[in-house]
Amino acid sequence: MEKIIVLDFGGQYNQLIARRVRDLGVYSEVWPFSSPLSSLDDPSIVGIIFTGGPRSCYEETSPRVDKGIYDLGKPILGICYGAQLIAFQNGGHVEAIPEREYGNRTIEIDGTSPLFSGLEQNQDVFMSHGDQIASLGQGFRVTASSSTCPIASYEDQKKRIYGVQFHPEVEHSVHGQDMLARFVLGICNASPTWKPEDFLSAKIEEARAIIGDKQVLCALSGGVDSAVVAALLSKAVGKRLTCVFVDHGLLRKNEAEQVKKTFGAMDLRLIAVDAKREFYDALAGVTEPEAKRKIIGKKFIDVFSKEEQKLQGTGEFYLAQGTIYPDRIESGLGIAAKIKSHHNVGGLPKDMDFLGLVEPLKDLFKDEVRALGRLLGLPEDIVSRQPFPGPGLGIRIVGEVTEERVLIVQEADAIFQEELKAAGIRPSQYFAALSNMRSVGVKGDERSYEEAVVLRAVDTDDFMTASPTEIPYEVLFKASRRIVNEVKGVNRVLYDVTSKPPSTIELE
Ligand code: XMP
Repeated sequence: MEKIIVLDFGGQYNQLIARRVRDLGVYSEVWPFSSPLSSLDDPSIVGIIFTGGPRSCYEETSPRVDKGIYDLGKPILGICYGAQLIAFQNGGHVEAIPEREYGNRTIEIDGTSPLFSGLEQNQDVFMSHGDQIASLGQGFRVTASSSTCPIASYEDQKKRIYGVQFHPEVEHSVHGQDMLARFVLGICNASPTWKPEDFLSAKIEEARAIIGDKQVLCALSGGVDSAVVAALLSKAVGKRLTCVFVDHGLLRKNEAEQVKKTFGAMDLRLIAVDAKREFYDALAGVTEPEAKRKIIGKKFIDVFSKEEQKLQGTGEFYLAQGTIYPDRIESGLGIAAKIKSHHNVGGLPKDMDFLGLVEPLKDLFKDEVRALGRLLGLPEDIVSRQPFPGPGLGIRIVGEVTEERVLIVQEADAIFQEELKAAGIRPSQYFAALSNMRSVGVKGDERSYEEAVVLRAVDTDDFMTASPTEIPYEVLFKASRRIVNEVKGVNRVLYDVTSKPPSTIELE
């Protein structure tokens, strides 16, 4: 299979570059910059991209490549640090600039470069660099510049080596993807024949090779990542996959049934543990948010460990996790094969006795995971579901968690979801929660003193910041009317219009 190798020099966007190449229909993997030359000299590798990175290439200890790479005859594209390194290792000069350049810039391109053919002369691109190329070695020529960056791109067409100081892989570079397409499909002449199906079969094969004749255990949360891992592993090793689904009683309406039905129909062992009572008992009387989170996390581990211990003796197990690429960025790229601490619910204990970890989705972005889920035939309800926190409704019920209050949130949430769906509105995350407020109302001719439901809907790309979704008033009004009419124990509905920060998305 033809592929483009992305050599990682520590930049933030390394996986994003590989993902952009895959979007063009060409398979791409990220490899460490120190990969041996011999491994790169493989006929299936039709091009190499050097990523950006935080270092300065002229420092003694900066990440460098064997110069033999430039004689492999393969097209190379350097991005940011990658472009500087190529220039530096080929007779050019790189130096620090007085002030770091960061943000959108307009560059003027030379349309005769194959990297830019057919594009307009002025291009908006994204720059982020503290060094820049001052001069190029023999054989290279400048192909783009800006008022602040005289060598914004360069090339040696004969050797098929290209460099760009800007980041074509990020969306702020308006025609960045077109430039990558010109490199991958034009200069490298790769055929756009790779499909996510191929990735799926490769991952299935890889999981089979790792697991061998052993078994694998997967904690199913009902979320999309663990669901896709389970479906993939079920295809890979069938009944040697055991899924443990802990129903902590803090799931959305019908969620437990849906998970049991979907995975019960697959060729795997499903252990569904009804631990509702245990969780509700442990949470009784507790109102402090952090204490609630800790109790839920600990209980989850207790229940999961108990199941794991029961399984010991039935064979040796690998542990499968639905880690995806953004999870690894969040944990500072602690890629080491250990159980990560920010698992859905509080982290699994490190002393569990597993042969190792299986993480088939670790290089993928969420939408790629969803695409795999669809290929695996998972129901759309699971595949397209919005993020749901590990502690579940526990952190959407301000104050004490009781079975009765869980029911109220589940029903109100289902109504809100239905109404948004009917109106064709799809915020990044949206749900109902319970404030810790009771207030006076009038129902029929009677005074009522009942709960207030909070509706929350936010738009965000990264979930680090978020803005409240501007839901049309009629939609909010209809949801509110239905909630007070259909959900027992509620006489008031509020819409949360705060941004994050200063609020958070969840109420606790
Ligand atoms: P906040 O409330 O911090 O949430 O603005 C940001 C995003 O993270 C999700 N979230 C969690 N996810 N375990 C998770 O798996 C958690 O403990 C947790 N707390 C918050 C939240 O739903 C939102 O998408």
